[in-house]
Amino acid sequence: MAGSEGRHRSVATPDGAAPDAPSATLVVRGGRPLRGSIRVPGDKSISHRALILGALADGPEPTCIAGLSACADVRATRRALEHLGAHIEGEPDGEVRIHGRGPQGLAGPPVRLDCQDSGTTMRLLAGLLAGQRRRFRLEAAPSLQRRPMNRVVEPLGRMGAELRALGEAGRPPLEGEGRALRGADLRLPRASAQVGSALLLAALNAQGETRVHYPAPVRDHTERLLAAMAAPIAWDARSSTLVGPVRHLARPGGGAITVPGDLSSAAFLLCAAAILPGSRIRLPGVGINPGRTGILDILRAMGAPVAVSGWRQSAGEPLADLATAAAELAAIGLGQPLVPRAIDELPLLAVLGARARGRTVLIEAGELRLKESDRIEAICSGLRRMGADIVATEAGFIVEGPGELRGAELDGRGDHRIVMALAVAGLAATGETRIRGAERIGDSYPGFVEDLVGLGAQVHLEPSD
Ligand code: S3P
Repeated sequence: MAGSEGRHRSVATPDGAAPDAPSATLVVRGGRPLRGSIRVPGDKSISHRALILGALADGPEPTCIAGLSACADVRATRRALEHLGAHIEGEPDGEVRIHGRGPQGLAGPPVRLDCQDSGTTMRLLAGLLAGQRRRFRLEAAPSLQRRPMNRVVEPLGRMGAELRALGEAGRPPLEGEGRALRGADLRLPRASAQVGSALLLAALNAQGETRVHYPAPVRDHTERLLAAMAAPIAWDARSSTLVGPVRHLARPGGGAITVPGDLSSAAFLLCAAAILPGSRIRLPGVGINPGRTGILDILRAMGAPVAVSGWRQSAGEPLADLATAAAELAAIGLGQPLVPRAIDELPLLAVLGARARGRTVLIEAGELRLKESDRIEAICSGLRRMGADIVATEAGFIVEGPGELRGAELDGRGDHRIVMALAVAGLAATGETRIRGAERIGDSYPGFVEDLVGLGAQVHLEPSD
């Protein structure tokens, strides 16, 4: 098989949120099948949590993390933890070692932390710091400044947190002072793993039971990692309960964990293979947490062959080898409760829908308008420029397929997942597609361009004018 099996650091893909990342255009030429095997980078969601919870493990021996994501969002979390006093060594292409300070060990003098463009960093740190004795301020880069934070501020307030959003209508920055909290019974109005995880991190320093109820199942990475650290936690598909305060947290995996490959990164390759005739790819070692596998269900429901083999576990997370191939796709309809299980992959549903026979409809996914960009508007207008028959609705889209896609000049809206979803569409289009804003790719998937090239695609980056 062609392609690379080794995890690698980005060679050419820009560094994403690095403040000096030069702006880049992604140039895509369609028509070639994808073939081979690629090891996708470590899971972004699990990487954030492995660092944060590693910092809360009982010290002084480190937790050794293999396969940590090298993406800009996770680097923002690492830098923030270092500012909080955590000692972290090593780089993601090898092993990262984080020295635990115990569940209450991040207390200290006032800090100002830069969460850059990472919503997960800001929301998880808000929960973490609400219960650590120190004053803090969480700053955001421009795209994160537009995103809502009341969803964490409000329930944390019910646990007694002193926390305020200083921006207009509950937007960043956040300011607070950590203190001992009280457990609470919290019903979340939307199914958000970031919010649930923030509350569980706060619950570690709360007196009594904290119970979080989700309106639909979400990824349970925080719960699994806490259980692997012997925390007093119990959960099912709709609620998670933790009894605090927690005085000891064992190092996960006995002090050595391996982060599974990121299914949300793998999704771009899987969807590209499904719509490019003659394609056949294999992606070893990808996380298949049930709260994340909506995209596999979508591909299967549309008619793509998805093979899942070699099921195994790492630090309580399931992973497996995935394979797929090109297929004639059929349209589907999608709404709650499946939306959270595919939330980051829904722009790809629009691309699949443009190449599938019939009318693909997404409903009840208004959350997409509150991501790094308004993803409903961004994907619909990008695909329309390529000739797709797609309309945006208030909380989703309607796309009629299969239509021919043609190369176009597109704007990635400063959003990594929009750039990459449009690149997948470009691979299935005639002619050349040029996507501005490709410097954001590294926010979640450094190595995207190299991985596509490794599978035989014609893509490259150019500096933008
Ligand atoms: C994430 C949860 C999701 C997802 C985001 C990462 C996480 O956000 O979109 O990319 O790591 O918990 P919400 O919790 O806002 O749905």
